[in-house]
Order: sequence, then C-alpha cells, then structure tokens
Amino acid sequence: MRARTAGLWVMVGMAGAAVVQAADRDGSPRGAADRAAAERGRVALTLTGFLKPEWSAAAYRRAGRLWDQPAPDPDRDPAGYAAAFRHHYGLHPAPYPNDGLPMGLRRGLGPGGTKTGLQLDCMLCHGGSIGGTSYVGLGNTQLDLKAVLHELTIADGRRAPPSTFVLSSSRGTNNAGMVAAALLSLRNSDLSPRLFPLPLGVNLPEMDTPPWWHLKRKATMYYDGRTDARSVRTNMQFLLGEKSLEQLKALEPVFRDVQAFLKSLEPPRYPFPIDTAQAARGQAVFERTCARCHGTYGPGGTYPNKIIPLDVIGTDPARSLGLSDRLVAHYNSTWLGAIHPVNTERIGYQAPPLDGIWATAPYLHNGSVPTLHALLKSSSRPQRFTRPPSTDFAHYDTIHVGWKFREVSAEELAATAQRSPFQARFLVDTARFGLSNRGHTFGDRLSEEQRMDLIEYLKTL
Ligand code: HEC
Ligand code: HEC
Repeated sequence: MRARTAGLWVMVGMAGAAVVQAADRDGSPRGAADRAAAERGRVALTLTGFLKPEWSAAAYRRAGRLWDQPAPDPDRDPAGYAAAFRHHYGLHPAPYPNDGLPMGLRRGLGPGGTKTGLQLDCMLCHGGSIGGTSYVGLGNTQLDLKAVLHELTIADGRRAPPSTFVLSSSRGTNNAGMVAAALLSLRNSDLSPRLFPLPLGVNLPEMDTPPWWHLKRKATMYYDGRTDARSVRTNMQFLLGEKSLEQLKALEPVFRDVQAFLKSLEPPRYPFPIDTAQAARGQAVFERTCARCHGTYGPGGTYPNKIIPLDVIGTDPARSLGLSDRLVAHYNSTWLGAIHPVNTERIGYQAPPLDGIWATAPYLHNGSVPTLHALLKSSSRPQRFTRPPSTDFAHYDTIHVGWKFREVSAEELAATAQRSPFQARFLVDTARFGLSNRGHTFGDRLSEEQRMDLIEYLKTL
C-alpha cells in the first residue's frame, strides 16, 4: 500500500478536546472517579473530536447512485435515503446526536474546527443494533466494510485503492487486523512515517467484532489474548493513518477515558420469556461442562481468563497464526507497545466471557457458526449460510438462539458471486481463508435435552 492512499484507511474520527485528567491506575469502573472518566470517554467517543474528513459530504448523497436497487432521493426524502443507506451498508441509527448520520460515520474536522466531509469511527464495527435498538459496543454483524470503503470513494470521483488483502468477504466479518497492520507497516519504530511499508509478514483473516462489554472482565484482550487489557495505546492504532507521535501522546488521556467508558458498558438483557426451571437445569450443565473455561455468572461470578491452545480448541487457526513475530516485534519496539508489549508467545484463543451471548450471533471469533445450537452440536453447522437482511427480531431464532439462516449450496454461492458480488456478501462460505467452522466440540457429547437446557441458561447471561 502506498503512503499516498493510506489516508483512506484512517479509520477513526476522534481527537478533539483533550480533557486531560489522571484516571485511576487500574481503570476498573469503580467509584465516582471512574464514572466521571467513563462519562468523559463517552463524550469523546460518540460526540466530540474528529479526524480530517476522508470523503466529501456529497459522497453520502451520491453513494445511492451506485446501488443495484433504486435509492430514495436524498433531498426530497432524507429519512428514506438514510434508512436505505443504513440497510445497504449494514449500519445502524446512532443512539447519540450524529448529524443524521448512522453510527460509524461522522463529520470530519475541517479548517478552523468546522465540521465537514465524512470520516469513519470505531462504531462502524463496534456499533450494532438488535430488535430495533442500537447499542454502542455491540459488534456490527451486518457491516459490509468493503462496500462502505469502496463506494464512498467512488462516489467522491476517486478510484478505490486495490486491496492487498480481503477486507470482508461477507457481512459482519471485517479485517481490522490487516488494516491496523498496514498502518503500522508505514511507520518506523519511532513512529515517523515511511514511504514504503515494512515487510512484516502478517496474514490475518477477516473476523467477527467482539462486544466491548467483555473488556471489564478481561485481563488480556483480543481473540488471541496476547495484549494486556489495560493497554490504552493499543486502542489508538487506527489513528496511525493521520497522527504523529506527539499527537498520539497528547490523545492518550482521552483514550484512557474511552477505555473507562468501554469498561462501563453492560450487555442488553434477553428480551423474550425464559423458562427459569429449564435454565436452572442448564446452569448445572454449564458449571459441569463449560465454566472451567468460560467462568461463572451472576453475583460472585469469576472469569478465569484462559487462553486455550489451538490443538485443544480446534477452531480456525488463521487468526492466531497470522499475527507474525515480525509484526509483534515491530509493535513492541514502538511507543504503542512500550508499557504493555504484546506477548511474544503464540498460544491459541482466549475463552471469552459469555455475557450478552444471546445478542452476539454469529459465533466464534470468525462468525462461522450462526446459532448457539449449531455451536453446541458441531455436526449440525452449515458449510454455507445466509446472513439476515437486518437485525430485526423477525430474523431472530429464539429456539436455537442466533440469526435464522438458510443453508446455501456451492452452486448457489457461485452463481450469486457471478451475478452480484454485493449480494454474495450476504452469504458466508466457511471454506474461505480464516472462516472455517470447525472445532469447539465441547457441546457434542451432551444429550439434546441437556443442550436445550444449556441454551436456556445462556439466555440469562
Ligand atoms: C474495521 C472494524 C473495526 C474498527 C473501526 C474498530 N475495531 Fe475494535 N475490533 C475489531 C475487531 C475485528 C476486533 C477483534 C480483533 C482481534 O481480536 O483480532 C476488535 C477488537 C477490539 C477490542 C478488544 C475487545 C476484546 O474483548 O478483546 C477493543 C477494546 C477495541 N476493538 C476497541 C476499538 C476502538 C476504541 C476503536 C476505535 C478507535 C475500534 N476498536 C475500531 C474491529 C474494529
Ligand atoms: C477448553 C475450554 C473451553 C470449554 C470447556 C468450552 N469452551 Fe466455549 N470457547 C472456548 C474458546 C477458546 C472459545 C473461542 C474460540 C474461537 O473463537 O475460536 C470459545 C467460544 C465459545 C462461544 C462463542 C463465543 C462468541 O462470542 O462467539 C460460546 C457461545 C461458547 N464457547 C460456549 C461454550 C459452552 C456452552 C461450553 C460448554 C458446553 C463451552 N463453551 C466449553 C473454550 C472453551
């Protein structure tokens, strides 16, 4: 990737008014100081501060001309256009003032502090909705990252830069890892910019975005658990497209507040009836079969923070293996890794907390399994399946818990890809790099009755 096009990958629009205040050392959401920090973080993340615009404001209105369905007129029917825009790209209404833009898009910072053009922010991937309610921190399982980046660029009269890796082959999964690696490869150890990328040998796959409400329980973060969850600087990687080391240093206190906000988030509660007797039976199954890795829930709940070796977990290894030693060494040589270096040992995947698990289908780090039932009975997992058209409850399966899906044949997948690459991204193909649905067979030996009890219990988390 050439330095000139790196600006497109400036992912995150938040800078602005740095309220510099010391946060509590451990960053956990306790006490008034933490609540104040979390509130400052909420404001910084959702309301204030922008990077420079990446696209013109007109790109938003012109994008509709590129769709295969006719779009409502953005001037005569702005609300209809906004809804169609969200639907097309898999975005969600912002539950905070955002100039009429969906979560994940925002105005950029123009000359003299004016709000102008368009920029992306964290909520592109970390802002989702379910049953018509938007949540900051729910992974966006609808996002078509490729379409957003490419079509806004084309709508601006520019050519989309050629991708050297798969941004997203289906809705929901995204290659945030390669974007971050590409940005870091254009910096030296002192974070001064480079014209030519360092060859870091990274080959990360696309992934599902994890919910932010897990962060408060974690000692280590990311799917492979190799980064200390107290690291503030790791959350600043997407700023590398624009910010100098001095600017990053000035923003660190803001990101400490953002982290306090992320740690204050709670999962949404399951909104449908739960059979409490069945859930109580399921809890016993859970504590026998699952708790040693996933912890216990409710008052006094514990989280063991275990990282499970690849040969034990058996899920797709690409994410764990793809983080190259050279990338880790380079990251650790910079300001980003100076306090909390990435662990140089590669183990496997961290068993995540399961709070709010009902709301975060599809499952596993790569979103390769559409429901909890399929996760707990590996022989029933579909090889190719449809992603839902929206996150309305009409598409939600309260029995198997997750999104309703249709299994798709190899022929249908190939024909759809031929006809419309955009439509093909509504289909998940677990044969793709990084998207295998194998492994995690810990539910296979349960009886169907125990499995259904367990699923009823998982709804309560
Ligand atoms: C392009 C999509 C995308 C954007 C934009 C994005 N993230 Fe993420 N985020 C991800 C994905 C995917 C992961 C999982 C990465 C992994 O573990 O390899 C992740 C992981 C995380 C985690 C770790 C969560 C955990 O439980 O381990 C945090 C914290 C986080 N992101 C914060 C942010 C912040 C803050 C921003 C904005 C500055 C941001 N992200 C922007 C996609 C994104
Ligand atoms: C040996 C440790 C271990 C045991 C036992 C275990 N899991 Fe897991 N589980 C993991 C790991 C590691 C992952 C992440 C794997 C990945 O994403 O590739 C995971 C992932 C999951 C996920 C997907 C999480 C998400 O956000 O997509 C669910 C749900 C889950 N486990 C439920 C269970 C249940 C229910 C049981 C008991 C039947 C169980 N697990 C037993 C280690 C374990």
